[in-house]
Amino acid sequence: MARIPDAFIDDLLARTDIVEVINLRVPLKRQGKEYAARCPFHDERSASFTVSPTKQFYHCFGCGAHGTAISFLMNYDRLEFLDAVEELAKRVGMEVPRDASPRGQDNDSRDLYAALDAAAKFFQRQLAHSDKARAYLDGRGVDGPIREQFAIGYAPEGFNALKDALGTDERRMKLLDRAGLFSKNDSGRVYDKFRDRVMFPIHDRRGRVIAFGGRVLEKDDGPKYLNSPETALFHKGRELYGLWQARQANQKLERLIVVEGYMDVVSLFQFGVTQAVATLGTATTPDHAELLFRNAPDVYFCFDGDAAGQRAGWRALESVLPRMRDGRQAFFLFLPDGEDPDTIVRHEGAEAFDARLRQATPLSQFFFDELSKEVNLSTLDGRARLAERARPLLAQIPDGAFGDLMRQRLTEVTGVGAQASTPTRPAGTTRRRDDGHNRPSLVRSIIVRLLHQPALALEVEPPYAFSGLRLAGVELLIELLGIVQARPDISTGALLEHFNEREEQAALQKLAMQELPGEEAHWRAELLDAVAQLGRQTLQQRLDELQKKQREIGLDEADKYELRALLQARLG
Ligand code: UTP
Ligand code: MN
Repeated sequence: MARIPDAFIDDLLARTDIVEVINLRVPLKRQGKEYAARCPFHDERSASFTVSPTKQFYHCFGCGAHGTAISFLMNYDRLEFLDAVEELAKRVGMEVPRDASPRGQDNDSRDLYAALDAAAKFFQRQLAHSDKARAYLDGRGVDGPIREQFAIGYAPEGFNALKDALGTDERRMKLLDRAGLFSKNDSGRVYDKFRDRVMFPIHDRRGRVIAFGGRVLEKDDGPKYLNSPETALFHKGRELYGLWQARQANQKLERLIVVEGYMDVVSLFQFGVTQAVATLGTATTPDHAELLFRNAPDVYFCFDGDAAGQRAGWRALESVLPRMRDGRQAFFLFLPDGEDPDTIVRHEGAEAFDARLRQATPLSQFFFDELSKEVNLSTLDGRARLAERARPLLAQIPDGAFGDLMRQRLTEVTGVGAQASTPTRPAGTTRRRDDGHNRPSLVRSIIVRLLHQPALALEVEPPYAFSGLRLAGVELLIELLGIVQARPDISTGALLEHFNEREEQAALQKLAMQELPGEEAHWRAELLDAVAQLGRQTLQQRLDELQKKQREIGLDEADKYELRALLQARLG
């Protein structure tokens, strides 16, 4: 996919007023320097949702929702990133650059969508003509309205039904082929890929058909389900069957339920559980996890109760962990042997299915249960092993209360903290560790001020005296300075947008929200003072290095010269 240059996003956000964008959708009230409203992303009586015109971002103190005008549109209008960008660009009359994609490309995909749509309509018409296909759906209890809602169809027997109906000229043949609707045999003959199957169209976020899943009517008629191959429009690791319908059926999605099959989604909907989606014969990918949480705060994963189901559950957990920002929850439900959501909802009804969901295992419990499985917690070794396994996983959880609680839980279970044990250091370096204790907060104090007033970065000119300082956050600080220097008028929101999809974003967002102690008039001096301190620490770091070298292997002429210069600089 064409990537939009950062510079364009910066421009766009600079020309967009987030207050206007949000106010059109959620009426805002002025409140001091900011605007406030009841949060559109969670139910509340008070107004915890604030929009800052100076920082150009929004934040909800209740549910933690936050972001720029772009993320607001993504969350509120349920748009994908590119669509949100396009929407904003339209407002301010900017043209979104489509780097590297020749002009023809857009028309091309329009034709492809049209071909898929025509195929879906064709399959739907065929269902009306096929007694046995309708009998099959009757037998499975799929009612008329649901067939409509999911545009279920039927691909006829034979090898040429679709081809003859829609492949009327070479151009159309090519399109249908690129849409993944044909197969080719060894001698090069092209024929319908889907034959004698019930067809489930897969819709994208805008409700366009992008692929199909086809189910055999009778057992032993080849693979039970056949899916479209990956095409220009369809990447199965990024799509969720039923998401379009779920979004249409719910004003606001409070939850999504991830199931394994097409029929599970369809049956749950028919019984009124309209928040079900299915991965398409794949494990839950990180892209899926992102898509899920972008659409709903609570995600339930349903799996078979067998060993394969447990493995699939763990895969889902791994995809979800790095996305567990505060306000998001994941649950795992393992079904009894031989059942799937389709059979359960038909046997027991929606109420009972909901009751099972309410009993689902929270992520935290599933996490520790699984990791504890093969270790003996009554032994020291066992607890140590659990801690070793848990650490790298816990490290992926974004900053926030959830991560804190998980790490706390690990300590409770094992008696060992989530931080990797600090390697013992040679005696000579202990002093550095002691006075280094305050250093992270020094970098932090600079970053906080930069986030509140990005233009302060212009006061700190490269080359930075502290660039060689080995200290957490220094690289991030340098990156922030660089962004602002390239873009002196950047707002806080736009600055944060640069960290889109990066793990630092959550922490930066938090810092940007923090009330800064002291007066705004003093920020500049405080920041410069902190920068100067970092410079002195860098100097000290180099001094320590040289002195250590002096003790251990001795110094050469250049080293000696540098040492003298450093000692002088420290005095001066
Ligand atoms: P299941 O075999 O559990 O199917 O596969 P199901 O949904 O219960 O199907 P019914 O109830 O027999 O109709 C679950 C999912 O795995 C994928 C499909 O996405 C299916 O919905 N799958 C399964 C395939 O892609 N190919 C297959 O051959 C089987
Ligand atoms: Mn089934």
